Amino acid sequence: MMHGKDLVSMADLEPEQIREILRRAVAFKRGETAPVLAGKSAALILEKPSLRTRVSFELAIRQLGGFTVSLDQAEVGLGTREPVADVARVLSRYVDLIAARTHAHGTLVELARHATVPVLNLLSDREHPCQALADVLTVQEKLGKLEGAIVAYVGDGNNVAASLALACAALGVSFRIASPPSHQLSLGVASATQERAQRSGAAFQQMKDPQQAVRDAHVVYTDVWVSMGQEGEKAQRLKTFQGYQVTAALLEKARPGVLFMHPLPAHPGEEIEPGLLDLPASAVFDQAENRLHVQKAVLTYLLSPASREG
Ligand code: CP
Ligand code: NVA
Repeated sequence: MMHGKDLVSMADLEPEQIREILRRAVAFKRGETAPVLAGKSAALILEKPSLRTRVSFELAIRQLGGFTVSLDQAEVGLGTREPVADVARVLSRYVDLIAARTHAHGTLVELARHATVPVLNLLSDREHPCQALADVLTVQEKLGKLEGAIVAYVGDGNNVAASLALACAALGVSFRIASPPSHQLSLGVASATQERAQRSGAAFQQMKDPQQAVRDAHVVYTDVWVSMGQEGEKAQRLKTFQGYQVTAALLEKARPGVLFMHPLPAHPGEEIEPGLLDLPASAVFDQAENRLHVQKAVLTYLLSPASREG
């Protein structure tokens, strides 16, 4: 079962808990609606920019009857104006949930440790669990099932890759990642993914060669080479990732009917060839839409502890 009250890492969720969130998301997407979060409030703290996460989070809670208090970093000064622990303890006296997008993953861990209400990771430098949940929902919709699918991730072993690897391995989806050796998944994420894959019967492989990774894959996934907060490394990163661009020609090496996925925002000319988002293979706007349905599922899951016992 869920290790605690929070969703900070994808590893906080056991496979059955992920499946329950996906079931709820499917129901919300079909139009199920009720004011199940009436009177519930969430603090939303964003230390970095956002389009999809901010809009989907605010709409999700509002459409279910709750509301958000939005705070930006300049205002709250997480760890600068006030210690993170104190922010967590104060907000816990006001709101039912704290959702945050932070530079350092450690800030979320600290918030979770000191808050008495659930803390939700809306992206950190290490993970992006809400994105991964929307991604596996998208794969499930497009392929009809998850178990047995092969996802090939090409590029940076970053926050998005980490949460996706953990989600796929939990659900019996084989995950391959092709990245430069200096930008593989962290050792901790790789070993947790390996362990989950062993339990679910899926495969997990890290490699260098994108062409090898995409062979027979049902899904080819990539993300930016320069994540938010890494702007100072841009020139070096653009060099390091040469040869890792996802192109229409690379998609042709995958399974016929392959899906192309990307969390957005995308940088055509860097990690993707211009025009890729518009190919029939592209599922990127379905992924973006699914952020809303998954956000509702995650919020109800975290805010209704009784309903997640079973
Ligand atoms: N995919 C994603 O998280 O987008 P935003 O950064 O715009 O929220
Ligand atoms: N890896 C990207 C994802 C953005 C949604 C970043 O952290 O900027």
